[in-house]
Amino acid sequence: MSSTPAIELKGITKTFGSVIANDNVDLTVNHGEILAILGENGSGKTTLMNMISGIYFPDKGTIKVDGKEAVIASPSDAFNYKIGMIHQHFKLVDIFTATENIILGLNDGKYNLKKSRQKIVDICEQFGFELEPDRKIYEMSVSEKQTVEIVKVLYRGAEILILDEPTAVLTPQEIDKLFTVLKKMRESGKAIIIITHKLNEVMAISDRVSVLCKGKYIGTVKTSQTNEKQLTEMMVGHKIELNIQRDEVKDAVDRLVVKNVNCQDMEGLPVLTDVSFTARAGEILGIAGIAGSGQKELLEAIAGLQRVTGEITYIDPESGKLENLRDKTPTQIQDLGVRLSFVPEDRLGMGLVGNMNITDNMMLRSYNKGHSIAVDRKAPKNLAEEIIEKLEVVTPGTNTPVRRLSGGNVQKVLVGREIAAAPTVFMAAYPVRGLDINSSFTIYNLLNDQKKKGVAVIFVGEDLDVLLALCDRILVLSSGKVSGIVDARTAKKEEIGLLMTKSSHQTDKEEA
Ligand SMILES: Nc1ncnc2c1ncn2[C@@H]1O[C@H](COP(=O)(O)OP(=O)(O)O)[C@@H](O)[C@H]1O
Ligand SMILES: [Mg+2]
Repeated sequence: MSSTPAIELKGITKTFGSVIANDNVDLTVNHGEILAILGENGSGKTTLMNMISGIYFPDKGTIKVDGKEAVIASPSDAFNYKIGMIHQHFKLVDIFTATENIILGLNDGKYNLKKSRQKIVDICEQFGFELEPDRKIYEMSVSEKQTVEIVKVLYRGAEILILDEPTAVLTPQEIDKLFTVLKKMRESGKAIIIITHKLNEVMAISDRVSVLCKGKYIGTVKTSQTNEKQLTEMMVGHKIELNIQRDEVKDAVDRLVVKNVNCQDMEGLPVLTDVSFTARAGEILGIAGIAGSGQKELLEAIAGLQRVTGEITYIDPESGKLENLRDKTPTQIQDLGVRLSFVPEDRLGMGLVGNMNITDNMMLRSYNKGHSIAVDRKAPKNLAEEIIEKLEVVTPGTNTPVRRLSGGNVQKVLVGREIAAAPTVFMAAYPVRGLDINSSFTIYNLLNDQKKKGVAVIFVGEDLDVLLALCDRILVLSSGKVSGIVDARTAKKEEIGLLMTKSSHQTDKEEA
Protein backbone atom coordinates (compact mmCIF):
# COMPACT_ATOMS: atom_id res chain seq x y z
CA MET A 1 0.00 0.00 0.00
CA SER A 2 1.39 3.37 -0.94
CA SER A 3 1.84 6.06 1.66
CA THR A 4 0.56 8.73 -0.73
CA PRO A 5 -2.95 9.73 0.36
CA ALA A 6 -5.76 8.40 -1.83
CA ILE A 7 -7.39 11.82 -1.70
CA GLU A 8 -6.10 15.12 -0.43
CA LEU A 9 -8.30 18.20 -0.34
CA LYS A 10 -6.78 21.61 0.34
CA GLY A 11 -8.64 24.85 0.93
CA ILE A 12 -11.90 23.74 -0.66
CA THR A 13 -14.52 26.48 -0.72
CA LYS A 14 -18.02 26.23 -2.18
CA THR A 15 -20.82 28.76 -1.95
CA PHE A 16 -24.44 28.62 -3.02
CA GLY A 17 -25.59 32.22 -3.36
CA SER A 18 -25.03 33.71 0.08
CA VAL A 19 -24.58 30.32 1.79
CA ILE A 20 -20.98 29.24 2.37
CA ALA A 21 -21.42 25.47 2.33
CA ASN A 22 -17.68 24.75 2.57
CA ASP A 23 -15.21 27.31 3.85
CA ASN A 24 -11.55 26.50 3.23
CA VAL A 25 -11.81 22.77 4.04
CA ASP A 26 -8.84 20.36 4.15
CA LEU A 27 -9.26 16.61 4.17
CA THR A 28 -7.10 13.53 3.66
CA VAL A 29 -8.01 9.89 3.30
CA ASN A 30 -5.51 7.06 2.81
CA HIS A 31 -5.73 3.71 1.11
CA GLY A 32 -6.64 0.97 3.57
CA GLU A 33 -8.38 3.46 5.84
CA ILE A 34 -11.93 4.32 6.89
CA LEU A 35 -12.40 8.03 7.50
CA ALA A 36 -15.61 9.20 9.18
CA ILE A 37 -16.96 12.67 8.53
CA LEU A 38 -18.95 14.19 11.32
CA GLY A 39 -20.95 17.39 11.43
CA GLU A 40 -24.41 18.64 12.27
CA ASN A 41 -27.14 18.95 9.63
CA GLY A 42 -26.13 21.57 7.12
CA SER A 43 -22.46 21.60 8.07
CA GLY A 44 -21.42 20.89 4.48
CA LYS A 45 -20.63 17.15 4.48
CA THR A 46 -22.63 16.18 1.41
CA THR A 47 -21.47 19.24 -0.51
CA LEU A 48 -17.83 18.35 0.14
CA MET A 49 -18.36 14.76 -0.98
CA ASN A 50 -20.23 15.92 -4.05
CA MET A 51 -17.11 17.79 -5.10
CA ILE A 52 -15.00 14.65 -4.85
CA SER A 53 -17.55 12.74 -6.90
CA GLY A 54 -17.92 15.33 -9.64
CA ILE A 55 -21.40 16.61 -8.89
CA TYR A 56 -20.27 20.08 -7.84
CA PHE A 57 -17.09 21.91 -8.73
CA PRO A 58 -15.26 23.85 -6.01
CA ASP A 59 -15.04 27.67 -6.18
CA LYS A 60 -11.56 27.46 -4.68
CA GLY A 61 -9.07 24.84 -3.56
CA THR A 62 -7.37 21.76 -4.93
CA ILE A 63 -8.09 18.04 -5.02
CA LYS A 64 -5.27 15.54 -5.33
CA VAL A 65 -5.90 11.89 -6.14
CA ASP A 66 -2.98 9.57 -5.38
CA GLY A 67 -0.71 12.58 -5.09
CA LYS A 68 -1.59 14.18 -8.42
CA GLU A 69 -3.78 17.20 -8.85
CA ALA A 70 -7.15 16.14 -10.29
CA VAL A 71 -9.88 18.00 -12.11
CA ILE A 72 -13.17 16.29 -11.33
CA ALA A 73 -15.78 18.05 -13.38
CA SER A 74 -18.34 15.26 -13.74
CA PRO A 75 -19.29 11.89 -12.21
CA SER A 76 -17.59 10.15 -15.12
CA ASP A 77 -14.37 12.05 -14.34
CA ALA A 78 -14.72 10.74 -10.80
CA PHE A 79 -15.04 7.18 -12.07
CA ASN A 80 -11.89 7.62 -14.12
CA TYR A 81 -10.15 8.50 -10.87
CA LYS A 82 -11.69 5.34 -9.36
CA ILE A 83 -13.94 7.33 -7.05
CA GLY A 84 -17.46 6.04 -6.39
CA MET A 85 -20.14 7.61 -4.19
CA ILE A 86 -23.16 5.91 -2.66
CA HIS A 87 -25.71 8.66 -2.26
CA GLN A 88 -28.39 9.00 0.41
CA HIS A 89 -31.08 8.60 -2.21
CA PHE A 90 -30.54 5.61 -4.42
CA LYS A 91 -30.50 5.97 -8.18
CA LEU A 92 -31.70 2.56 -9.34
CA VAL A 93 -34.24 1.49 -11.95
CA ASP A 94 -37.00 -0.40 -10.12
CA ILE A 95 -38.03 -2.79 -12.87
CA PHE A 96 -34.47 -3.88 -13.66
CA THR A 97 -32.54 -6.62 -11.90
CA ALA A 98 -29.51 -5.98 -9.73
CA THR A 99 -27.21 -7.08 -12.56
CA GLU A 100 -28.92 -4.85 -15.12
CA ASN A 101 -28.67 -1.85 -12.79
CA ILE A 102 -25.02 -2.49 -12.07
CA ILE A 103 -23.99 -2.59 -15.73
CA LEU A 104 -26.37 0.12 -16.91
CA GLY A 105 -24.57 2.80 -18.90
CA LEU A 106 -21.35 0.82 -19.40
CA ASN A 107 -19.72 -0.31 -22.66
CA ASP A 108 -21.96 1.79 -24.92
CA GLY A 109 -24.84 -0.50 -24.09
CA LYS A 110 -23.10 -3.63 -25.38
CA TYR A 111 -23.68 -6.09 -22.60
CA ASN A 112 -22.57 -9.62 -21.90
CA LEU A 113 -25.02 -10.42 -19.12
CA LYS A 114 -23.55 -13.80 -18.28
CA LYS A 115 -20.03 -12.45 -17.86
CA SER A 116 -21.22 -9.42 -15.90
CA ARG A 117 -23.30 -11.59 -13.63
CA GLN A 118 -20.26 -13.73 -12.86
CA LYS A 119 -18.17 -10.66 -12.11
CA ILE A 120 -20.87 -9.48 -9.69
CA VAL A 121 -20.98 -12.87 -7.98
CA ASP A 122 -17.19 -12.70 -7.61
CA ILE A 123 -17.29 -9.22 -6.07
CA CYS A 124 -19.99 -10.35 -3.63
CA GLU A 125 -17.89 -13.34 -2.64
CA GLN A 126 -14.74 -11.29 -2.20
CA PHE A 127 -16.32 -8.76 0.17
CA GLY A 128 -19.11 -10.82 1.70
CA PHE A 129 -22.16 -9.12 0.20
CA GLU A 130 -25.46 -10.97 0.22
CA LEU A 131 -27.00 -10.13 -3.13
CA GLU A 132 -29.17 -12.00 -5.59
CA PRO A 133 -28.04 -10.74 -9.02
CA ASP A 134 -31.32 -11.63 -10.75
CA ARG A 135 -33.67 -10.02 -8.26
CA LYS A 136 -35.55 -6.94 -9.42
CA ILE A 137 -35.02 -3.74 -7.46
CA TYR A 138 -38.69 -3.36 -6.56
CA GLU A 139 -38.53 -6.72 -4.81
CA MET A 140 -35.65 -5.60 -2.61
CA SER A 141 -35.41 -4.17 0.89
CA VAL A 142 -33.65 -0.83 1.40
CA SER A 143 -30.57 -2.66 2.59
CA GLU A 144 -30.44 -4.83 -0.53
CA LYS A 145 -30.79 -1.76 -2.73
CA GLN A 146 -27.89 -0.18 -0.91
CA THR A 147 -25.84 -3.30 -1.56
CA VAL A 148 -26.60 -2.95 -5.28
CA GLU A 149 -25.32 0.64 -5.17
CA ILE A 150 -22.10 -0.40 -3.46
CA VAL A 151 -21.48 -3.35 -5.78
CA LYS A 152 -22.17 -1.01 -8.69
CA VAL A 153 -19.27 1.29 -7.83
CA LEU A 154 -16.98 -1.65 -7.06
CA TYR A 155 -17.89 -3.19 -10.42
CA ARG A 156 -16.68 0.02 -12.03
CA GLY A 157 -13.37 -0.38 -10.28
CA ALA A 158 -13.76 2.11 -7.44
CA GLU A 159 -10.77 2.28 -5.10
CA ILE A 160 -12.13 5.26 -3.20
CA LEU A 161 -15.66 4.84 -1.85
CA ILE A 162 -17.82 7.53 -0.32
CA LEU A 163 -20.95 6.56 1.62
CA ASP A 164 -23.32 9.39 2.59
CA GLU A 165 -25.27 8.42 5.71
CA PRO A 166 -25.57 4.76 4.69
CA THR A 167 -26.73 3.54 8.10
CA ALA A 168 -29.67 5.94 8.44
CA VAL A 169 -31.91 3.46 6.64
CA LEU A 170 -30.61 0.20 8.13
CA THR A 171 -31.51 -2.02 11.10
CA PRO A 172 -28.81 -2.78 13.70
CA GLN A 173 -28.21 -6.19 12.13
CA GLU A 174 -27.88 -4.69 8.65
CA ILE A 175 -25.47 -2.08 9.99
CA ASP A 176 -23.28 -4.86 11.43
CA LYS A 177 -23.23 -6.55 8.03
CA LEU A 178 -22.36 -3.31 6.25
CA PHE A 179 -19.50 -2.70 8.66
CA THR A 180 -18.15 -6.21 8.09
CA VAL A 181 -18.12 -5.52 4.36
CA LEU A 182 -16.47 -2.11 4.84
CA LYS A 183 -13.71 -3.69 6.92
CA LYS A 184 -13.04 -6.22 4.16
CA MET A 185 -12.79 -3.39 1.65
CA ARG A 186 -10.37 -1.59 3.94
CA GLU A 187 -8.25 -4.75 4.18
CA SER A 188 -8.09 -4.89 0.42
CA GLY A 189 -6.60 -1.40 0.37
CA LYS A 190 -9.59 0.72 -0.54
CA ALA A 191 -10.01 4.22 0.86
CA ILE A 192 -13.43 4.68 2.45
CA ILE A 193 -15.20 7.83 3.57
CA ILE A 194 -18.36 7.37 5.61
CA ILE A 195 -20.77 10.03 6.82
CA THR A 196 -22.89 9.18 9.85
CA HIS A 197 -24.59 11.05 12.67
CA LYS A 198 -24.25 8.19 15.08
CA LEU A 199 -21.20 8.51 17.30
CA ASN A 200 -21.20 4.86 18.32
CA GLU A 201 -20.87 3.97 14.65
CA VAL A 202 -18.02 6.42 14.18
CA MET A 203 -16.25 4.83 17.13
CA ALA A 204 -16.93 1.31 15.84
CA ILE A 205 -15.90 1.63 12.22
CA SER A 206 -13.51 4.50 11.56
CA ASP A 207 -9.75 4.89 11.83
CA ARG A 208 -9.86 8.68 11.87
CA VAL A 209 -12.61 11.28 12.11
CA SER A 210 -12.78 14.65 10.40
CA VAL A 211 -15.21 17.17 11.83
CA LEU A 212 -17.03 20.01 10.07
CA CYS A 213 -18.98 22.76 11.80
CA LYS A 214 -21.08 25.26 9.83
CA GLY A 215 -19.05 24.71 6.67
CA LYS A 216 -15.70 25.08 8.42
CA TYR A 217 -13.08 22.40 8.90
CA ILE A 218 -12.58 21.88 12.64
CA GLY A 219 -9.98 19.13 12.62
CA THR A 220 -9.18 15.45 12.33
CA VAL A 221 -8.55 13.05 15.19
CA LYS A 222 -7.59 9.40 15.47
CA THR A 223 -10.61 7.36 16.55
CA SER A 224 -8.53 5.40 19.05
CA GLN A 225 -7.51 8.68 20.71
CA THR A 226 -10.90 10.33 21.03
CA ASN A 227 -14.34 9.70 22.54
CA GLU A 228 -17.96 10.59 21.88
CA LYS A 229 -17.90 13.62 24.13
CA GLN A 230 -14.87 15.20 22.48
CA LEU A 231 -16.29 14.56 19.01
CA THR A 232 -19.60 16.14 19.92
CA GLU A 233 -17.92 19.20 21.32
CA MET A 234 -15.85 19.58 18.14
CA MET A 235 -19.02 19.22 16.12
CA VAL A 236 -21.21 21.71 17.95
CA GLY A 237 -18.42 24.07 19.00
CA HIS A 238 -19.23 24.04 22.73
CA LYS A 239 -19.49 21.73 25.73
CA ILE A 240 -22.48 19.42 25.83
CA GLU A 241 -24.06 16.86 28.16
CA LEU A 242 -24.57 13.65 26.20
CA ASN A 243 -26.64 11.58 28.58
CA ILE A 244 -30.31 11.13 27.87
CA GLN A 245 -32.31 11.91 31.00
CA ARG A 246 -34.66 9.32 32.37
CA ASP A 247 -36.74 10.02 35.46
CA GLU A 248 -38.40 7.29 37.46
CA VAL A 249 -42.02 6.68 36.58
CA LYS A 250 -44.36 8.14 39.20
CA ASP A 251 -47.98 7.06 39.66
CA ALA A 252 -48.36 5.65 36.18
CA VAL A 253 -52.00 5.01 35.36
CA ASP A 254 -53.40 3.30 32.30
CA ARG A 255 -54.33 5.79 29.63
CA LEU A 256 -54.73 3.78 26.45
CA VAL A 257 -55.56 0.11 26.20
CA VAL A 258 -55.03 -1.65 22.88
CA LYS A 259 -56.43 -5.16 22.69
CA ASN A 260 -56.19 -7.76 19.94
CA VAL A 261 -55.86 -5.22 17.17
CA ASN A 262 -55.69 -6.65 13.67
CA CYS A 263 -55.13 -4.72 10.47
CA GLN A 264 -54.72 -5.67 6.83
CA ASP A 265 -53.10 -3.87 3.94
CA MET A 266 -54.85 -3.14 0.66
CA GLU A 267 -54.10 -6.61 -0.65
CA GLY A 268 -55.66 -8.21 2.40
CA LEU A 269 -52.34 -9.25 3.93
CA PRO A 270 -52.03 -8.89 7.70
CA VAL A 271 -49.91 -5.92 8.85
CA LEU A 272 -50.95 -6.09 12.51
CA THR A 273 -51.89 -9.36 14.20
CA ASP A 274 -53.40 -9.51 17.66
CA VAL A 275 -51.52 -6.50 18.98
CA SER A 276 -52.21 -5.83 22.65
CA PHE A 277 -50.56 -3.40 25.06
CA THR A 278 -51.26 -0.59 27.48
CA ALA A 279 -49.78 2.91 27.33
CA ARG A 280 -49.56 4.57 30.71
CA ALA A 281 -49.65 8.20 31.70
CA GLY A 282 -46.29 9.46 32.90
CA GLU A 283 -44.35 6.86 31.00
CA ILE A 284 -42.52 6.64 27.68
CA LEU A 285 -43.37 3.46 25.84
CA GLY A 286 -40.88 2.76 23.08
CA ILE A 287 -41.74 0.79 19.98
CA ALA A 288 -38.89 -1.04 18.28
CA GLY A 289 -38.91 -3.10 15.12
CA ILE A 290 -37.43 -3.42 11.67
CA ALA A 291 -38.88 -0.76 9.36
CA GLY A 292 -42.28 -1.84 8.07
CA SER A 293 -43.14 -4.18 10.93
CA GLY A 294 -46.47 -2.45 11.55
CA GLN A 295 -45.28 0.59 13.52
CA LYS A 296 -46.93 3.05 11.14
CA GLU A 297 -50.24 1.20 11.00
CA LEU A 298 -50.34 0.86 14.78
CA LEU A 299 -49.99 4.59 15.42
CA GLU A 300 -52.39 5.37 12.60
CA ALA A 301 -54.92 2.95 14.07
CA ILE A 302 -54.81 4.81 17.39
CA ALA A 303 -55.06 8.19 15.65
CA GLY A 304 -58.14 7.10 13.71
CA LEU A 305 -56.43 6.78 10.35
CA GLN A 306 -56.56 2.98 9.88
CA ARG A 307 -59.41 0.51 9.80
CA VAL A 308 -58.72 -2.22 12.32
CA THR A 309 -60.53 -4.86 14.37
CA GLY A 310 -60.04 -5.31 18.09
CA GLU A 311 -60.31 -2.70 20.82
CA ILE A 312 -58.69 0.69 21.33
CA THR A 313 -59.87 2.23 24.58
CA TYR A 314 -58.95 5.61 26.03
CA ILE A 315 -59.33 6.25 29.73
CA ASP A 316 -60.19 9.86 30.47
CA PRO A 317 -57.79 11.35 33.03
CA GLU A 318 -60.44 13.47 34.76
CA SER A 319 -63.59 11.35 34.77
CA GLY A 320 -62.03 7.90 34.36
CA LYS A 321 -64.62 7.30 31.66
CA LEU A 322 -63.75 4.77 28.95
CA GLU A 323 -63.95 5.94 25.35
CA ASN A 324 -63.82 3.57 22.43
CA LEU A 325 -61.55 5.04 19.73
CA ARG A 326 -61.84 2.28 17.15
CA ASP A 327 -63.61 3.21 13.92
CA LYS A 328 -63.57 6.90 14.86
CA THR A 329 -62.13 9.59 12.63
CA PRO A 330 -59.50 11.97 14.02
CA THR A 331 -62.19 14.67 14.34
CA GLN A 332 -64.55 12.35 16.19
CA ILE A 333 -61.73 11.39 18.53
CA GLN A 334 -61.04 15.06 19.21
CA ASP A 335 -64.75 15.72 19.79
CA LEU A 336 -64.80 13.03 22.49
CA GLY A 337 -62.39 15.25 24.41
CA VAL A 338 -59.47 12.95 23.75
CA ARG A 339 -56.30 15.02 23.50
CA LEU A 340 -54.17 12.93 21.18
CA SER A 341 -51.08 14.32 19.47
CA PHE A 342 -49.39 12.52 16.62
CA VAL A 343 -46.07 13.27 14.95
CA PRO A 344 -46.09 10.95 11.95
CA GLU A 345 -43.09 9.56 10.12
CA ASP A 346 -44.06 11.47 7.02
CA ARG A 347 -43.63 15.00 8.39
CA LEU A 348 -44.41 16.91 5.24
CA GLY A 349 -47.07 14.53 3.96
CA MET A 350 -49.31 13.93 6.94
CA GLY A 351 -48.05 16.36 9.53
CA LEU A 352 -47.48 19.69 7.86
CA VAL A 353 -48.22 21.32 4.52
CA GLY A 354 -44.93 22.29 2.91
CA ASN A 355 -46.24 25.15 0.83
CA MET A 356 -47.94 26.81 3.77
CA ASN A 357 -46.01 29.07 6.12
CA ILE A 358 -45.36 28.25 9.75
CA THR A 359 -48.28 30.29 11.09
CA ASP A 360 -50.80 28.66 8.76
CA ASN A 361 -49.46 25.25 9.67
CA MET A 362 -50.26 26.05 13.29
CA MET A 363 -53.88 26.61 12.31
CA LEU A 364 -54.18 23.28 10.51
CA ARG A 365 -54.58 21.42 13.73
CA SER A 366 -57.63 23.28 14.92
CA TYR A 367 -59.24 24.80 11.85
CA ASN A 368 -62.22 22.47 12.11
CA LYS A 369 -63.32 24.34 15.18
CA GLY A 370 -63.19 27.81 13.62
CA HIS A 371 -66.63 29.36 13.71
CA SER A 372 -66.03 32.80 12.30
CA ILE A 373 -65.55 33.55 8.64
CA ALA A 374 -62.64 35.90 9.10
CA VAL A 375 -59.54 33.88 9.86
CA ASP A 376 -57.85 34.94 13.06
CA ARG A 377 -54.11 34.64 12.60
CA LYS A 378 -53.04 36.29 15.79
CA ALA A 379 -53.07 33.25 18.08
CA PRO A 380 -51.39 30.91 15.60
CA LYS A 381 -48.79 33.55 14.82
CA ASN A 382 -48.01 33.91 18.51
CA LEU A 383 -47.74 30.16 18.81
CA ALA A 384 -45.43 30.00 15.79
CA GLU A 385 -43.22 32.68 17.31
CA GLU A 386 -43.15 30.91 20.64
CA ILE A 387 -42.11 27.61 19.03
CA ILE A 388 -39.41 29.30 16.96
CA GLU A 389 -37.97 30.88 20.08
CA LYS A 390 -38.25 27.96 22.50
CA LEU A 391 -37.11 25.23 20.12
CA GLU A 392 -34.50 27.38 18.36
CA VAL A 393 -36.03 26.89 14.92
CA VAL A 394 -33.73 28.35 12.27
CA THR A 395 -35.96 30.34 9.91
CA PRO A 396 -36.21 33.91 8.62
CA GLY A 397 -39.68 34.17 10.22
CA THR A 398 -43.19 32.83 10.67
CA ASN A 399 -44.02 33.60 7.04
CA THR A 400 -41.50 31.11 5.65
CA PRO A 401 -43.06 28.11 3.88
CA VAL A 402 -42.33 24.99 5.88
CA ARG A 403 -40.78 23.19 2.90
CA ARG A 404 -37.94 25.72 2.89
CA LEU A 405 -36.83 24.68 6.39
CA SER A 406 -34.23 21.98 6.95
CA GLY A 407 -35.38 18.58 8.24
CA GLY A 408 -34.57 19.28 11.86
CA ASN A 409 -36.43 22.55 11.85
CA VAL A 410 -39.49 21.03 10.17
CA GLN A 411 -39.56 18.45 12.93
CA LYS A 412 -39.28 21.06 15.67
CA VAL A 413 -42.21 23.01 14.21
CA LEU A 414 -44.34 19.87 14.08
CA VAL A 415 -43.43 18.63 17.56
CA GLY A 416 -43.89 22.14 18.98
CA ARG A 417 -47.35 22.41 17.48
CA GLU A 418 -48.42 19.00 18.77
CA ILE A 419 -47.15 19.72 22.26
CA ALA A 420 -48.93 23.06 22.32
CA ALA A 421 -52.22 21.15 22.03
CA ALA A 422 -51.62 19.94 25.64
CA PRO A 423 -52.04 16.26 24.81
CA THR A 424 -52.76 13.41 27.18
CA VAL A 425 -51.39 10.91 24.65
CA PHE A 426 -48.36 11.89 22.56
CA MET A 427 -47.26 9.61 19.73
CA ALA A 428 -44.14 10.23 17.67
CA ALA A 429 -42.76 8.07 14.86
CA TYR A 430 -39.02 8.42 14.22
CA PRO A 431 -39.03 12.02 15.49
CA VAL A 432 -35.22 12.37 15.35
CA ARG A 433 -34.66 10.68 11.99
CA GLY A 434 -32.02 12.64 10.13
CA LEU A 435 -31.57 15.16 12.95
CA ASP A 436 -28.18 16.09 14.36
CA ILE A 437 -27.24 15.58 17.98
CA ASN A 438 -28.34 18.97 19.25
CA SER A 439 -31.76 18.80 17.61
CA SER A 440 -32.19 15.18 18.69
CA PHE A 441 -31.58 16.12 22.32
CA THR A 442 -34.08 18.95 22.05
CA ILE A 443 -36.67 16.39 20.99
CA TYR A 444 -35.72 13.89 23.73
CA ASN A 445 -36.06 16.64 26.31
CA LEU A 446 -39.48 17.55 24.98
CA LEU A 447 -40.63 13.93 25.25
CA ASN A 448 -39.28 13.78 28.80
CA ASP A 449 -41.15 16.98 29.68
CA GLN A 450 -44.33 15.38 28.41
CA LYS A 451 -43.71 12.29 30.53
CA LYS A 452 -43.19 14.50 33.59
CA LYS A 453 -46.49 16.23 32.89
CA GLY A 454 -48.25 12.88 33.03
CA VAL A 455 -48.70 12.40 29.31
CA ALA A 456 -48.70 8.85 27.93
CA VAL A 457 -45.85 9.01 25.43
CA ILE A 458 -45.43 6.47 22.62
CA PHE A 459 -42.10 6.75 20.83
CA VAL A 460 -41.33 4.75 17.70
CA GLY A 461 -37.57 4.69 17.27
CA GLU A 462 -34.87 3.01 15.24
CA ASP A 463 -31.75 3.62 17.33
CA LEU A 464 -31.77 0.92 20.01
CA ASP A 465 -29.30 2.82 22.20
CA VAL A 466 -31.70 5.75 22.30
CA LEU A 467 -34.75 3.55 22.91
CA LEU A 468 -32.95 1.87 25.82
CA ALA A 469 -31.81 5.16 27.34
CA LEU A 470 -35.01 7.17 26.94
CA CYS A 471 -37.94 4.80 27.33
CA ASP A 472 -39.42 3.09 30.35
CA ARG A 473 -40.73 0.05 28.53
CA ILE A 474 -40.12 -1.12 24.96
CA LEU A 475 -42.62 -3.00 22.87
CA VAL A 476 -41.00 -4.92 20.02
CA LEU A 477 -42.89 -5.54 16.80
CA SER A 478 -41.91 -8.27 14.40
CA SER A 479 -43.93 -8.81 11.22
CA GLY A 480 -46.91 -7.05 12.76
CA LYS A 481 -46.92 -9.05 15.98
CA VAL A 482 -45.79 -8.11 19.47
CA SER A 483 -42.72 -10.27 19.95
CA GLY A 484 -42.01 -8.88 23.39
CA ILE A 485 -42.49 -6.02 25.86
CA VAL A 486 -39.37 -5.40 27.92
CA ASP A 487 -38.26 -3.15 30.77
CA ALA A 488 -35.91 -0.63 29.16
CA ARG A 489 -33.91 -0.23 32.38
CA THR A 490 -32.78 -3.84 32.36
CA ALA A 491 -33.13 -5.02 28.74
CA LYS A 492 -30.08 -5.61 26.54
CA LYS A 493 -29.65 -4.42 22.99
CA GLU A 494 -29.02 -7.95 21.67
CA GLU A 495 -32.24 -9.16 23.27
CA ILE A 496 -34.24 -6.50 21.44
CA GLY A 497 -32.40 -7.19 18.18
CA LEU A 498 -33.40 -10.84 18.45
CA LEU A 499 -37.02 -9.96 19.19
CA MET A 500 -37.03 -7.67 16.14
CA THR A 501 -36.05 -10.47 13.80
CA LYS A 502 -38.05 -13.22 15.46
CA SER A 503 -40.03 -14.78 12.61
CA SER A 504 -43.79 -15.01 12.93
CA HIS A 505 -43.35 -18.77 12.89
CA GLN A 506 -41.26 -18.64 16.04
CA THR A 507 -43.67 -16.23 17.67
CA ASP A 508 -46.53 -18.61 16.94
CA LYS A 509 -44.72 -21.55 18.37
CA GLU A 510 -43.77 -19.81 21.57
CA GLU A 511 -47.21 -18.49 22.19
CA ALA A 512 -48.79 -21.88 21.53
N1 LIG B 1 -27.70 22.94 -4.27
C1 LIG B 1 -27.74 23.77 -3.24
N2 LIG B 1 -28.25 25.01 -3.36
C2 LIG B 1 -28.27 25.86 -2.32
N3 LIG B 1 -27.82 25.58 -1.09
C3 LIG B 1 -27.32 24.35 -0.89
C4 LIG B 1 -27.24 23.37 -1.95
N4 LIG B 1 -26.68 22.25 -1.45
C5 LIG B 1 -26.41 22.50 -0.15
N5 LIG B 1 -26.79 23.76 0.18
C6 LIG B 1 -26.62 24.41 1.49
O1 LIG B 1 -25.28 24.20 1.89
C7 LIG B 1 -25.20 23.93 3.29
C8 LIG B 1 -24.52 22.59 3.51
O2 LIG B 1 -25.39 21.54 3.06
P1 LIG B 1 -24.99 20.02 3.04
O3 LIG B 1 -23.67 19.87 2.38
O4 LIG B 1 -26.13 19.27 2.43
O5 LIG B 1 -24.87 19.69 4.58
P2 LIG B 1 -24.82 18.29 5.35
O6 LIG B 1 -24.66 17.18 4.33
O7 LIG B 1 -23.67 18.41 6.27
O8 LIG B 1 -26.12 18.17 6.11
C9 LIG B 1 -26.62 23.99 3.82
O9 LIG B 1 -26.83 25.28 4.35
C10 LIG B 1 -27.47 23.77 2.58
O10 LIG B 1 -28.71 24.39 2.71
MG1 LIG C 1 -25.87 15.52 3.92
